[in-house]
Formats: sequence, C-alpha cells, structure tokens
Amino acid sequence: MKTKTILVTRKFPESGIQLLEQRGFRLSLWDRDRPMTQEELIAEAKKHNSLFCTLTDRIDRNFLNQCSHLEIISQFAVGFDNIDVKCATELGIPIGFTPDAMSEATADIAFGLMIAVARKMFFMHKTISRGQWGSFNPTGHLGIELKNRTLGIFGLGRIGLKMAERCKNAYNMKIIYHNRSRSTRAEQETGACHVSFDELLARSDVLSVHCILSPETRHIFNKAAFRKMKDSAIFINTARGPVHNEKDLIQAVKNREILGAGLDVTDPEPMSPESELLEMENVCVLPHIGSATIEARNQMSMLAAENIIGFYENGRPVHVVNPEVFDS
Ligand code: DGY
Repeated sequence: MKTKTILVTRKFPESGIQLLEQRGFRLSLWDRDRPMTQEELIAEAKKHNSLFCTLTDRIDRNFLNQCSHLEIISQFAVGFDNIDVKCATELGIPIGFTPDAMSEATADIAFGLMIAVARKMFFMHKTISRGQWGSFNPTGHLGIELKNRTLGIFGLGRIGLKMAERCKNAYNMKIIYHNRSRSTRAEQETGACHVSFDELLARSDVLSVHCILSPETRHIFNKAAFRKMKDSAIFINTARGPVHNEKDLIQAVKNREILGAGLDVTDPEPMSPESELLEMENVCVLPHIGSATIEARNQMSMLAAENIIGFYENGRPVHVVNPEVFDS
C-alpha cells in the first residue's frame, strides 16, 4: 500500500500519534496552540489522504466539497456536530469517532457540577478571593442535600448511565430518563424509568443533559421547558451548549423558575467573561473540560488512530458515525 498521509489538526496526546507512526502512516502535525483557520484547514487537507481532527475544526459542506478526495475523517471526540455528516455520507467519506473513552471523565464533571451547584461552591470560593469571608454564618448561603432526590437524564447513553450510577450509589437518587428509545441496560442496572419529556421536566430535582446536538435537540431547553421544571431544580449540561438556550437559562435562574445550573458547555464557546451566569450564586461553569483527564484523552487519541488503522487495514473504522457509506 502506498504510504498514506494524515493531516493532524491539533496537538493530540502522543498515544494515538505514535500508534499511527508505528504503522507507517506519514503524519503532518499542526503544532500551534490554536485551531487552523478554515483557509489553512482546506489548503492543508487538500494535500493529505485523511484527517485526524476534532470539534474545533469546521468540517462543513464547503470544506467537504473542496476536500472530497479525503478517504477517512477521524474525529477525536464522541460528539460530531462540527461535521456535516450528511454531506460526508453523500461523498462516501466515513467519519470515525471515539465513543466511551470519556464516559467516566464526563460523568465525573456532571456529578461534580451537581454537587458544586447544590452547595454554591464556585460562588463561595469567590467570596474568599473578594475578601468577603466574614465570620461563621449560621444562616448564610445555605445549599441543599441530594440524598433520595430524583435525577432526570435527557439522553441516557454511555455517559448518562455513568452519571446515573454515581447518583444512585452516592445519594440513592431515583433515576428517570427521556430518550427516543428505551435503555433496558440502564433500567436493569439503575432502576431507571423511562418518562415523557414533560414528565422529565416536571419531576427532576436534578436534570442532566447527555444527548447529542441535533436539529431535534437544539434549544430544546428553552423558556417553555424551564418553566415546566421545579423551582428547586438544578440543570446540568455537559453535552453541547446549544442544547439549552442560554438567554432563557439566565432568565430562568434570575426569575427563580429553577434553582440553578452547572454547565461544562455553553453557547457560544468560549463563554464571554462578562456572562451574567458567572456571577450567579447558584451557577457553576467550566470551560468544556468533560473529557480532560489523562486517561480519557489518551484513550480518545488511541481510538481515533485505531479508526484510521481499521479503515486502511480492514476496510472499516472501529467506530463509525455513518456506516451506510460501506453499504453500497
Ligand atoms: C466530545 O468528545 O464530544 C467532548 O465534547 C470533548 O471530549
């Protein structure tokens, strides 16, 4: 086989890079700390057989039409909303992705945010740096406890299941979820009950989002949805920012329609440092670090590499978003 060339669009963990080099692929590594501009991405991709990329790369119709020679696009992420999958499929380009590598890490962030919001942790931390730590206050800034409460999961897949397990084991929380299809595994392992979207909104004490971003889920958590939630509810989003409408979320917290929110993803990203959310007592925000552990990122890098190797050596990536490209 002629040596295949791969454009690697960011500095990724060495695990996957080394694996590809050992297997004889020729890699071009983008070593700056910023993503490539669209012009740079297109110009460079034109010179390579395949792409090792991530969610900061815009793989849209224009890119794909100009780079329709690409043999495989291997995405270092479980989410792939930066890629026009329909167009890639029309062009016969398989998209690899890295499911499950970050499930534990992301569930930890969802779980951590839940506790951080319930106990106003980020806000209380700021009172120290602002010189506002007065004396012990028996009635000041009281949080809530999570034992025996109801966790609602929107999009119960691999990450949602890990979040459900944590909440059940730590706090004996009752698990309800809303998915298009039922998850018998989650029902058996955590006693989770499938409910309608409206029931999820009405019954959750903590509502944690773990779905993909799609036209159906974009802004599904909007003014109308927040109004149907308990005024004591905590909203957690570690999936994709545009699943919630951020202006509506701000209003919902301000108007006390919900208690608060924990976000690892925002809309837009990066969030403006001026965002009102950053000053709110019951809101905790992180800069999209769900998968940011050494273990998860190494595993993601390995899987992204294995998808390329699987494609060239066995005709198929190990994890493929659009398997229909192999049907014809
Ligand atoms: C993903 O994998 O989609 C995360 O958002 C980044 O790890």
